Amino acid sequence: MQKRKLGNSGLEVSALGFGCMGLNFLDGKGLDKKEAIKLLHNAVERGITFFDTAEAYGPYTNEELVGEALQPHRKDVVIATKFGCKDASPAIGLDSRPETIRAVTEASLKRLKTDYIDLLYQHRVDPNVPIEDVAGTVKDLIQEGKVKYFGLSEASVTTIRKAHSIQPVSALQSEYSLFWRDPENEIIPLLEELGIGFVPFSPLGKGFLTGIIHKKLADVDRRNIIPRFSEENIKANLVLVDALAEIAQQKNVSTAQLALAWLLAQKPWIAPIPGTTKLHRLEENIGSTTIVLTADEIAEIDTTVAGIKLVGDRYPEFLEKQIDRS
Ligand SMILES: NC(=O)c1ccc[n+]([C@@H]2O[C@H](COP(=O)([O-])OP(=O)(O)OC[C@H]3O[C@@H](n4cnc5c(N)ncnc54)[C@H](OP(=O)(O)O)[C@@H]3O)[C@@H](O)[C@H]2O)c1
Repeated sequence: MQKRKLGNSGLEVSALGFGCMGLNFLDGKGLDKKEAIKLLHNAVERGITFFDTAEAYGPYTNEELVGEALQPHRKDVVIATKFGCKDASPAIGLDSRPETIRAVTEASLKRLKTDYIDLLYQHRVDPNVPIEDVAGTVKDLIQEGKVKYFGLSEASVTTIRKAHSIQPVSALQSEYSLFWRDPENEIIPLLEELGIGFVPFSPLGKGFLTGIIHKKLADVDRRNIIPRFSEENIKANLVLVDALAEIAQQKNVSTAQLALAWLLAQKPWIAPIPGTTKLHRLEENIGSTTIVLTADEIAEIDTTVAGIKLVGDRYPEFLEKQIDRS
């Protein structure tokens, strides 16, 4: 697998990372622990070196799983985790007070069975704690050797600039895909200017872009809280998937591969982190790293997508409120 540098920070990761959230958290099903560990080992064997988790996934159990699975490979992988939710739950609120960041980091280190976290993100910007204090706390943790690199998630341009002036930000992790292109307006130009890497989360549109979702999701599925995944919005937005499937077919690749190859083609400092619970899909997704899209093909995708108006918000109100608009 090719490697990519996340901006100017020196942090090098596989072009495609692995989003671990869905292994035991996303859709109410998840894998049993043994299967999940096996899949993570399969990912390592296939060249993936970049693994994404958070204390909030589970909560806690996802970090425990990742820690156990990656312990034998610790020196060869980059583990990213996140702090910043009150009691590790976005539904309860946000908490990035310095003492909380310290306590969460210590607990994450234990669960991850390691003495350093490669990349520590603030999961959401806490409006009650100045970002300078957050960056300063992570800076101290870096000086103490407990953390190697600092990241933010869904942070605004203003916040990124302020944080970066205190402790260089190595990566921003925010939603970005053909299902959500908002970062193209202000965020990507800023990251380029500051030399910060970009880690798109939900790069497959939480599964929607792959074409596997055609109808109402099962009741246990966590995506049911997202307006874009209501029955009528799924139906309306399928026009996007159908259009992408047609382009993918001409190129003899899958729709999922097209969606990931398009992301990888945007900038050389982008490393998407798709999640899957299935080995054949992991292999399919890894296949996207060798697909070369020509300028004409990228233009065709862009024009096609620009002509489609998607419906439904990407978050329910309580989660949308936690997005940094400063
Ligand atoms: N920072 C944040 O706030 C934040 C928010 C959300 C997510 N994340 C991170 O981003 C990672 C990925 O995001 P995500 O899980 O929301 O969305 P995603 O990676 O866009 O999509 C995952 C979904 O797509 C399916 N899938 C994967 N590959 C497929 C393929 N080739 N064909 C068909 N279906 C496929 C998976 O189902 P199967 O398991 O059945 O394959 C799963 O339901 C998470 O694991 C997490 O680490 C971060």
